[in-house]
Amino acid sequence: MSDFSGLTALVTGGASGIGRATADLLLARGADVAVLDLDPSTVSGPLRGYAADVSDDASVRSAVAGAADALGGIDILVNNAGTGATGTVEDNDDAEWHRVLDVNVLGIVRTTRAALPHLRASAHAAVVNTCSIAATAGLPQRALYSASKGAVHALTLAMAADHVREGIRVNCVNPGTVDTPWVGRLLDRAADPAAERAALEARQPMGRLLSADEVAAAIVYLASPVAAGVTGTALAVDGGMQGLRPRPEGR
Ligand SMILES: NC(=O)c1ccc[n+]([C@@H]2O[C@H](COP(=O)([O-])OP(=O)(O)OC[C@H]3O[C@@H](n4cnc5c(N)ncnc54)[C@H](O)[C@@H]3O)[C@@H](O)[C@H]2O)c1
Repeated sequence: MSDFSGLTALVTGGASGIGRATADLLLARGADVAVLDLDPSTVSGPLRGYAADVSDDASVRSAVAGAADALGGIDILVNNAGTGATGTVEDNDDAEWHRVLDVNVLGIVRTTRAALPHLRASAHAAVVNTCSIAATAGLPQRALYSASKGAVHALTLAMAADHVREGIRVNCVNPGTVDTPWVGRLLDRAADPAAERAALEARQPMGRLLSADEVAAAIVYLASPVAAGVTGTALAVDGGMQGLRPRPEGR
């Protein structure tokens, strides 16, 4: 398929996991793709890697300008870089709240702000934010992370409203638990990684974790010209976790 031929894309957090799968799929579908990441050392041609920290405005501006120059514009922005936090509302101090909100929420603000002049010049402009099921379901031990992703959801809707008349579509995907290096690190820290993995699998009605490729397919759909009529939506890719209430097996 080459439905993205002639289009350019910038993917934040594109060196690993969901972002990397998205960058690779956009490339396979014909886009010219740049990746913005804290560590783009694993990114090689034809992907274009740019080092930046989405919590640092100067580095974001410089990476977005560099990517736009090299690509000859930006049609698609995937705001995917994110960071995690565990615990209840009692467990994180103010500095940790500021750190996570700075990456997960303000990171989207900074990259989108820098990319908007380029998106306005595109006939197929789309922004896709990586949100989370944590925005729509109450998950234990995720107070700060959930607050950040709830903000991403609300920001997606507000941005979609602000830019609809400029022809810029804004949507988000809400993944359930996805088998990425991020979740691998979480499992490694668990007292019993196999039991923790089984609990995460059992929480999703499909009984398994999602793959990064499955989430990437949803992001790429929302980014693509075939989704020209879609803006202000949240597309769940969560193995049924948000919408289904199955009865226990055999009962
Ligand atoms: N894995 C899951 O189960 C899951 C579920 C729902 C949502 N998400 C979201 O998906 C996104 C990607 O997660 P993943 O699982 O692919 O993680 P990952 O750790 O595999 O990849 C994240 C990438 O983002 C980069 N990154 C992190 N902080 C950054 C910063 N400040 N500036 C620039 N780049 C930065 C990292 O270097 C890394 O390459 C995140 O927004 C996360 O919240 C993940």
